[in-house]
Amino acid sequence: MLLEINSLSVKYGRIPALEDFSMEIKRGEIATVLGANGAGKSTLLKAILGMEKASHGKVVWEGENVTNWSPSRRIKDGLALVPEGRRILIAQTIEENLLLGAYQRDDVDAIRHEMETIYDRFPNLCERRHMQASCLSGGEQQMLAIGRALLSKPDLLMLDEPSLGLSPLFVKQLFKLLRDLNKGGLTILLVEQNTDQALALANTGYVLERGKLIISDGAQKLANDPRLHEAYLGVAAE
Ligand SMILES: Nc1ncnc2c1ncn2[C@@H]1O[C@H](COP(=O)(O)OP(=O)(O)OP(=O)(O)O)[C@@H](O)[C@H]1O
Ligand SMILES: [Mg+2]
Repeated sequence: MLLEINSLSVKYGRIPALEDFSMEIKRGEIATVLGANGAGKSTLLKAILGMEKASHGKVVWEGENVTNWSPSRRIKDGLALVPEGRRILIAQTIEENLLLGAYQRDDVDAIRHEMETIYDRFPNLCERRHMQASCLSGGEQQMLAIGRALLSKPDLLMLDEPSLGLSPLFVKQLFKLLRDLNKGGLTILLVEQNTDQALALANTGYVLERGKLIISDGAQKLANDPRLHEAYLGVAAE
């Protein structure tokens, strides 16, 4: 198992945001975590990376308990997160933003080579590599955020609502990119509110409701599970 989450709980003060969550991701798989606003999806990803502390439970990465590791140590060991809202440094150039992803690496030639691969994939970024990131559209900024995460050479790429605010064309490109990256061997953990597309892409799906796991199943089965829609409607109706 590449990643195992066992009974993970996270609290903000005394308020539980994630309770007793468990999941397993095999190498080469795509898993998706779904749920309405406030369900605890971002909290889960942050806890996997170590940006939020677990109040209970553990994160096991490649067989090792990493629950007390710092985020930078986890990144160095192959975990990466494309955060909600992208977090691009708009006053820095596109190239500087990309290089931030490689900040813990010193294999300069390999970094250069991977930068070129990323530029081949995203010609819009290549053309403007020396311009400020503020010149990019929302969709291009998302691609930059993904490129930056790839430069840490992850084994598991986690993405927090990457399709949010993107045009349908960019959403299509994004999902194609994720499929291509996965075909190249990358394991992916995708948080989405775009449930149909996420489940069409993923192997397994998990649904969170108010911090609790309410369903986990094969993605195809989950797509036809009436409880999935209830999870969204139930929250919306309140
Ligand atoms: N830093 C924080 N301090 C206090 N409460 C927080 C903090 N971050 C999140 N919460 C609360 O924890 C719960 C889970 O939030 P989280 O951001 O993980 O949800 P989410 O599923 O990612 O939602 P969204 O779809 O809106 O991004 C929410 O009730 C939220 O208000
Ligand atoms: Mg979120």
